Amino acid sequence: MRKPVIAGNWKMFKTISESVNTALSLKSLVANANHCEVIIAPVFTSLKAVADRVEGSNIQVAAQDVSDQLKYGAHTGEISAEMLKDAGCSHVIIGHSERRSLYGDIDEFINRKLRAALQFGLTPILCCGETLGERDAGNAEQVVNNQLTADLNGFADEDVAKLIIAYEPVWAIGTGRTATPDQAQQMHGYIRGWLTDKFGTSVSQGLRILYGGSVKPDNIAELMRAEDIDGALVGGASLEAESFAKIVNYNE
Ligand code: 13P
Repeated sequence: MRKPVIAGNWKMFKTISESVNTALSLKSLVANANHCEVIIAPVFTSLKAVADRVEGSNIQVAAQDVSDQLKYGAHTGEISAEMLKDAGCSHVIIGHSERRSLYGDIDEFINRKLRAALQFGLTPILCCGETLGERDAGNAEQVVNNQLTADLNGFADEDVAKLIIAYEPVWAIGTGRTATPDQAQQMHGYIRGWLTDKFGTSVSQGLRILYGGSVKPDNIAELMRAEDIDGALVGGASLEAESFAKIVNYNE
């Protein structure tokens, strides 16, 4: 009943022409994928060109971040949710661990960015996840609890229902070390339970929770068999159309 989502986060890779070429290759490779939603997240400069080329296909476009500011103004370097909509985005990744750890994206900003995205009809893909030290100390669930509590502070049930959540354990990102399906399922189950507690069953049962961290063509099928894993947020393996298409077509 929850339609899976397979999203590719291209991070800071690809010029405009490289982005368009990858998107066009992907378009034909996933043309028959109706079992899931397919999303790609190019860099800001490639968004419009990619969105124009995939318009009318089953590929949707996400930005990798959004400003917390809603209106035009003196906010050097920022890009608003309205501008992302205008460029053809339907989704936006918010609170990725790289933004949290390297660029000072604190929960208070993330909360405002989520509100900004929702106000302009963008679907946020909210990322959460613990570091290896936090996991080894037995604090993984507490860390995710703290992130989600702060990020969704003050949110109404109907707004939370519009989100996609991505659980991305930091120790699995770009390391080739994937969480086992059991480890991922345990956290996804925890997050769904958390959502039930805070926002009720209908929100928690409908919301897609993606796993991210070294997802590859050869481990996606196994991950997707876990009850509470509703898709994947893929970094490195989404950069090549062929490899990302294999992940999208995990059911074949
Ligand atoms: P990798 O798939 O390269 O581990 O990256 C995961 C990620 O950060 C997706 O947002």
